[in-house]
Amino acid sequence: MISREDVPDRTYLRTRATAPGPSGPQMLLSLREIRRDPLGFLQRMTRDYGGVVQFPMPSPATYLVSDPAAVRHVLVDHSRAYDKATVQYRSLSLVTGEGLLTTSGDMWRRQRRMVQPAFHQASLDAVVGHADRATAALLCRWGDVSRGGIIDVDEAMMRVALETVGASLFGTDLSADADRLARSTIEALDVVVSSAQMPLRLPTWAPSQRRLRRAMHELDVSVDAMVSMRLHDPRPPIDLLGMLVAAARGDDPIPLREVRDELVSFLVAGHETTASALTWALWLLAGDPEAQERAAAESRSVFVGGTATMADLDRMPWIRAILDETMRLFPPVWLVTRRAVADDVLAGREIPAESLLIMTPYIAQRDSDVWADATAFQPERFVGQCRGGRDDDAAYWPFGLGPRMCIGRDFAYVEAMVVLARLLQHVRVARIPAGSDPRAVPLVTLRPEGGLELLVSRRG
Ligand code: HEM
Repeated sequence: MISREDVPDRTYLRTRATAPGPSGPQMLLSLREIRRDPLGFLQRMTRDYGGVVQFPMPSPATYLVSDPAAVRHVLVDHSRAYDKATVQYRSLSLVTGEGLLTTSGDMWRRQRRMVQPAFHQASLDAVVGHADRATAALLCRWGDVSRGGIIDVDEAMMRVALETVGASLFGTDLSADADRLARSTIEALDVVVSSAQMPLRLPTWAPSQRRLRRAMHELDVSVDAMVSMRLHDPRPPIDLLGMLVAAARGDDPIPLREVRDELVSFLVAGHETTASALTWALWLLAGDPEAQERAAAESRSVFVGGTATMADLDRMPWIRAILDETMRLFPPVWLVTRRAVADDVLAGREIPAESLLIMTPYIAQRDSDVWADATAFQPERFVGQCRGGRDDDAAYWPFGLGPRMCIGRDFAYVEAMVVLARLLQHVRVARIPAGSDPRAVPLVTLRPEGGLELLVSRRG
């Protein structure tokens, strides 16, 4: 049933109000709150106005959708009626081009089929080894922290995640090109994200636009070098890059541009996300010594010798629960957007074609009607029931829902479990006395503002 009673009789220039929400002046008064605590603002909007909130934007009509049935409708049951032609994905595609992350429709379906084999079981076995080696290298770089050292774990997790993704998907041990590729991707994303937050379009000579052009040039040079090395490799490894290069040489060849776009897309999607989950897990464990000691004991009992294997991971339910609980409180991908392709109705509200829908797992995953003691870190809620694996559970969806759910979910779990278990086997983390809590800033992923320093010491 379409409900109208509580919808203000308003239009925002040419856009009619079809759902409750703040007025223009109320929105202006909230600007400071939006800047200071954007996620808290979205939570408050849902509390004040309900599961479908309309913002006073002229065009396109913009809605915050948090009603679980409506989220499932958009992402799972009627996913074909919604695409990714949104301002968020358009900004990302300035860097990624037309890769799996940002495309829609037939092009997306073809791309997903093409890259899917790179995420099968055999590839996950390889991820275990790559994550293990990247963590060993990190522990080696940390050296002797027996009496404790202050370390930016955010930076460290970014590097471990980059090395794991680079080695697993592109078969590179971070050669100069892959290193440059990562740096320029991050630099380009930085510019794109900060200019997306700026309402005015900057001229192309502005310093930030010059930075973007430089970073994009570096990106293209690095990808070209990686691809051309592979094209001349007589025995290329079977990984994502190998699959893309084979597709570029096949009977119905994809253009080299698409190989580049796919590589950058996977670097963007698979690097900072896992790093964010690991960083927040370390922060939460640093504040909960009991949970940390239990994790250390679990990893010591499982990793009895040599290198980690896939079978080890099944015997680490506590480490897995820590990651599930971390991503409940700090979902790395905090924002998911869609465009309505045609008119629709969500939770009784009319949604005109072309509307922008904003969704975030952050609201559902901190909903106190669903989660007891919702803001507390309690990994035990996930022991014996790993929720992070269903594609229709709108109460917990850090990896998205429906057909566009994260293709790298198992990859991310494998990597994060190995890294976390291996680290806790060797070191203890603690918060810096009298240090302040990190502010979670929602950029491309949810990150601690200015990095995250912890006291790290070797276990005896
Ligand atoms: C903790 C780590 C990760 C989290 C929380 C995460 C989360 C997500 C979410 C929420 C989506 C859906 C976005 C939407 O529907 O608009 C997504 C899509 C995607 N993710 Fe992940 N991701 C993670 C790690 C990875 C890794 C390791 C890879 C690759 C190695 C990856 C590759 C992708 C790709 C390519 C897509 C687009 C899939 C498609 O549209 O078909 N992600 N991810």
